[in-house]
Amino acid sequence: MKSYIVGNWKLNFTVGEASIYLHKLLRKLPNYRDVDVIIAPSLLALQPLSLQVDRHKLKLAAQNAFYRDYGAFTGETSFTQLNGIVDYCIIGHSERRYIFREDDKMVAKKVAAAIRNKIRPILCIGETESERAFGETADVIRDQLLGGLSEIGAEDVSKVLIAYEPVWAISSVKAAKLATPSEVADVVKLIRKILTEVYGKKTAEETPVLFGGSVNPSNAGAYLTVPGVNGLLAGGSSLILSEFADIIDTAKRVRS
Ligand code: PGA
Repeated sequence: MKSYIVGNWKLNFTVGEASIYLHKLLRKLPNYRDVDVIIAPSLLALQPLSLQVDRHKLKLAAQNAFYRDYGAFTGETSFTQLNGIVDYCIIGHSERRYIFREDDKMVAKKVAAAIRNKIRPILCIGETESERAFGETADVIRDQLLGGLSEIGAEDVSKVLIAYEPVWAISSVKAAKLATPSEVADVVKLIRKILTEVYGKKTAEETPVLFGGSVNPSNAGAYLTVPGVNGLLAGGSSLILSEFADIIDTAKRVRS
């Protein structure tokens, strides 16, 4: 399976800054056949960047969208509107779950809307620090994984990229800690086990599982070599062009 390196820019960069970054990244980036590079700029930058991007080198993702295709939903953008502009959409990021109160039902509808509009969901799941401390990690992972996939058919599950992002390891969280490769390995194994039980071995093997949480050039290699990890989702590090390019290079090296 190929590797996926996703840069989540969150609420950073003006449209102009985003365009300059993309220009420089495209110049730096060889055409990696077995590494898919994906960036998720803010919504406003997606349309202009979609005209600028070389899709052989890099794909675009939205950071969020609404599950209804059109209608009276002030302030929202639909997957239908994003069709043709992005290839992926991050769904269920912990910032959406905890700041904007999105629950598994909402996440599931968004995953289904993405699939319906031919956009691959990057479904983020992960436990908080206190859930881990109370021994609830496995339950949270099961609920968020099966909850998020509950509105799509089994035949569409492998189109979803699962991103395991322990909330306590995300760099913007107060006193964030680095997840150890063995902590990541345990949860990734659990994710594949659940997928195997519910959807069968083939689907479980074909569904990409990514890791995210304070990924940077010095730890990317260790996370990418965790058994079962097919890629990384970087936030802070993706804002620094040289760091993001290093992470992509690492993925290329690990693959070959
Ligand atoms: P981080 O963010 O790499 O800055 O920890 C990852 C994320 O929130 O997706």
